[in-house]
Amino acid sequence: MSIILGIESSCDETSAAICIDGKIRSNIIANQTIHEKFGGVVPELASRAHQQNIIPAVQQAIREAKIHKNDIDAVAFTRGPGLLGALLVGASFAKAFTLARNIPLIEVNHMQAHILAHFIEEPIPVFPFLCLTVSGGHTQLVLVKDYFDMELLGQTLDDAAGEAFDKTAKILGLPYPGGPLIDKYAQQGNESAFQFPEPQIPGLNFSFSGLKTSILYFVQQKEREQPGFLQSHLSDICASVQSRIVSILLNKLKRAAKKTGVRDVAIAGGVSANSGLRNGLLTMGEEQGWQVFIPRFEYCTDNAAMIAIAGHYKYLARDFVGQDVAPLAKWTM
Ligand code: KG4
Ligand code: ZN
Repeated sequence: MSIILGIESSCDETSAAICIDGKIRSNIIANQTIHEKFGGVVPELASRAHQQNIIPAVQQAIREAKIHKNDIDAVAFTRGPGLLGALLVGASFAKAFTLARNIPLIEVNHMQAHILAHFIEEPIPVFPFLCLTVSGGHTQLVLVKDYFDMELLGQTLDDAAGEAFDKTAKILGLPYPGGPLIDKYAQQGNESAFQFPEPQIPGLNFSFSGLKTSILYFVQQKEREQPGFLQSHLSDICASVQSRIVSILLNKLKRAAKKTGVRDVAIAGGVSANSGLRNGLLTMGEEQGWQVFIPRFEYCTDNAAMIAIAGHYKYLARDFVGQDVAPLAKWTM
């Protein structure tokens, strides 16, 4: 039997989870609302909020899992990539806890953990599978050969998909983080109302910065011609933008599936909470004869359950690190 405490603090969610023998028993997520008024995550404020939230989050995770802190066999923490100051809080906690109790410390790559979130609940994909990982900081097409053997097939050359959602939301005057709001408005809009360009990027890489600029120019021009246009067409704009971002993502996914011949296809990361992407993937999966894997909402955005499950597999492999481990703002898988 193994009991793993997972800690996630790479951005603006402080999270703690308990995994017992590969099953998640608790997953506590403390959201930081302090960043809303700044229109984006303020790194220094994120670090301070992590410091306030981490002990209560761990205590609650232990309570909900109905265990005692002495029962924990190892602590898995996000080493990177992420905001350095934010990562330091989780890393320091994990190091202190394991040092005091003399138990193993496990480092986890946040991007790998988003993918391993697929092993929390049935149905579980079969290796090798393709995963489109789309978050606020990354957009990656990954061939997953084993738990920790992942090949990066393509990635964004500029903005991440989540950034494209959030920056568009800012242009449209919506508060941060705008991704979920665009999703909400899009559900009442017509996705064919406006046509935004699809970038012509060769291979399996992505680009979103041109799209963002075209949306900015579109909104500025329409407002000049027709003041109040943005407000009266908000849902249609959101639906059209969302549909373009989703088509950019899914077209590359289709290309990757053709190239690799892999038929188990998954999505992961915060943007996989997007209803347009979820529905689009289901439709494409039916057309292409894929087995499609979409995590539950709670395991799409940042959470410690995915860190704990990654920790579980590393614990089985006895893959531990020493107290000299330092967080990494950038860390390729
Ligand atoms: O994985 P995540 O929680 O944090 C990072 O590691 O970045 O992803 C956060 C991103 C944000 O850009 C947020 O706007 C986006 O995921 N997001 C969404 C939705 N829910 C979260 N984007 C579009 N539609 C959603 N429903
Ligand atoms: Zn993430």
